[in-house]
Amino acid sequence: MAAPLVTDAHRAGQRVGLTFDKLVIDGGKPLRGRVDVRGAKNLATKAMVAALLADTPSTLLDVPDISDVKVVTGMLEAYGVSVASPEPGTLILDPANVERAHFAQIDALAGSSRIPILFCGPLLHRLGEALIPDLGGCRIGDRPIDFHMDALRAFGAIVDKSYEGFRLTAPNGLKGAFIDLPYPSVGATEQVLLTAVLAEGVTELKNAAIEPEIMDLVAILQKMGAIIWMEPNRTIFIEGVEKLHGYTHRALFDRNEAASWASAALATRGDIFVAGAKQQELMTFLNVFRKAGGAFDVREDGIRFWHPGGALKPVQVETDVHPGFMTDWQQPLIIALTQAEGVSVVHETVYENRFGFTSALVDMGADIVVHKDGLESITRRVPRRPLEQAAVITGPTPLHGADVVVPDLRGGFSYLIAALAARGRSTISNVGIISRGYEHFGEKLEALGADFTVES
Ligand code: EPZ
Repeated sequence: MAAPLVTDAHRAGQRVGLTFDKLVIDGGKPLRGRVDVRGAKNLATKAMVAALLADTPSTLLDVPDISDVKVVTGMLEAYGVSVASPEPGTLILDPANVERAHFAQIDALAGSSRIPILFCGPLLHRLGEALIPDLGGCRIGDRPIDFHMDALRAFGAIVDKSYEGFRLTAPNGLKGAFIDLPYPSVGATEQVLLTAVLAEGVTELKNAAIEPEIMDLVAILQKMGAIIWMEPNRTIFIEGVEKLHGYTHRALFDRNEAASWASAALATRGDIFVAGAKQQELMTFLNVFRKAGGAFDVREDGIRFWHPGGALKPVQVETDVHPGFMTDWQQPLIIALTQAEGVSVVHETVYENRFGFTSALVDMGADIVVHKDGLESITRRVPRRPLEQAAVITGPTPLHGADVVVPDLRGGFSYLIAALAARGRSTISNVGIISRGYEHFGEKLEALGADFTVES
């Protein structure tokens, strides 16, 4: 039995994961209880950037207390936007005094986030210039931004690459463009939306991403006065308008966090009620969860996920854009698949290097083989780049504790799950990364009965 749980000192406002680097977890206990999931990391941060486009204040509700939101808050304030938080989860963003910021300040603030790239369109509209540092984000592939830059040039922006980032200007303003994305990129779709809404004329965006977070951003822009419509074939049209006003919006819940806690329930043979989770945006995940042997119950205020007993079953999963199985869901789910009776295959088609986290799981006793060029036996998907990788997971394999270092956001959460499911003690370092996308995860683990202590 580890030392006492998170002490009262920690509870006094300090957030595990934000100020602590290491967790010591004694595994083998099922997670049981309730967690509350708030707004999606991958919507709230973009909604905050959208506030830059308005000439009046915006109010965003259900904002998660995560470091990615803190990064965007710092960047907005550097550009003169006032960001107030009258109560936890609510942000009031006032863009009345937008002004140029110093590059060094932006570079220092941007940190590990990828959101700065989405400031381009709004800053070009407001200031006629955008200075963007080289981007951070999870190391799950080379994460190029060619689609973003090609789109911005199509609107009439001039892009100058310096060794430390990009400088963009738009001497002749920004005009509506025809953009056909080589791949339905979430970020590039957001880039086009945030630029086209105030551009002169109509923009046609083909092969757009239509993730729920994108549709929530479209809803926000429409509230602001934008004119946006869609055709059935994932083509989005945006008719530029003269100006936009502020919005009031409650952010869509975080599907990725909900799926992560569901996977934790399955892997630890537990039972977790995820308050705030909604079925509509999780349908593909729910199908796989059920096929793997999990049980779930959709309620008015959330979804209960539990391990009904017996053996978990192997599944074949292929990640894809929405409405497919989200790439962000595969890492936590794989922990549960290590406990399934048989051979599972996870085919990763979105990122070219998202299985790096599995090597530490093998050290914990998992049987996972990564095929860098995918598996020919599975029909290949959109042949965008030699991207497809496949992980073959053979179970069940008892997991034992180990010392591991968090590699990226979702891989980090999957290590939490693995340590909780494993027999014995694990030490997880670099846990701060997890607070980029999982609000108050230490308190949530504590509420679910996890047995851990924190070390700075
Ligand atoms: C967003 O990343 C999410 N991040 C990711 O979540 C998510 O995995 C991803 O969308 C896919 O759903 C945020 O919203 C902050 P993409 P994004 O552009 O926009 C390639 C998490 O864990 N590509 O859809 O960066 C790219 O390399 C994170 O919350 C280009 O080639 O994803 C990748 O292979 C991880 N050129 C594919 O497209 C470009 O210009 C999909 O990337 C842009 C992307």
